[in-house]
Amino acid sequence: MRIDIITVLPDLLESPLNHSIMKRAREKGLLEVHIHSLRDYAINKYGQVDDTQFGGGAGMVIMCEPLSKVIEKLKSERNYDEIIYLTPDGETYHQQTANRLSLKENLMMICGHYKGIDQRIRDLYVTLEISIGDYVLSGGELAAAILTDSIGRLLPGVLNDETSALTDSHQDGLLAPPVYTRPAEFMGLKVPDILLSGHFAKIEEWRHEQAVERTQQRRPDLMKD
Ligand code: ADE
Repeated sequence: MRIDIITVLPDLLESPLNHSIMKRAREKGLLEVHIHSLRDYAINKYGQVDDTQFGGGAGMVIMCEPLSKVIEKLKSERNYDEIIYLTPDGETYHQQTANRLSLKENLMMICGHYKGIDQRIRDLYVTLEISIGDYVLSGGELAAAILTDSIGRLLPGVLNDETSALTDSHQDGLLAPPVYTRPAEFMGLKVPDILLSGHFAKIEEWRHEQAVERTQQRRPDLMKD
């Protein structure tokens, strides 16, 4: 899979996508991430990419021309399955969306900043608008990193144990059960006996019960779905 991310702050994206699982996915060639600095497409030699809003009001708006230039360039090079704009007024991101997007070949992500991007870019190019939650970030970069991470880890071959993404919280509509490792007793707290029993069918049954109980307690809204 290839992901192209357009941003005014390329440095902000480098670190989160260059560690651990994402780093390995990129090194193995399973995930290609290309970060494009919008300033390279600025309208003048001062690097201008934004301007004040028509109608007045505080905050700058990212202009059409630089965005259109970089989007057109990328589109001329390959077909994109989705052109995603990260924005607090987009549809809320869920695991199901990550699953769906992980089946695509080419994704483009546009990070907004300041007051956002000119509406005409949204009208002309954007195919999917995503919010990562009901709160406002300073820009779309961290949201783009979250999408890239959550999609990238689902690509075949990225996780060592192919099945481990299937047992994540949310993957089957339930939160994940508790997990334990050595030692078997810590500060008087013992690992549940069942996990030490070696009886795999019973362990799976216990994990499922725990997942249901945890979901009922913490996220009853998920049980309704
Ligand atoms: N940009 C600013 N806030 C955001 C959010 N909650 N989700 C996605 N992009 C954003």
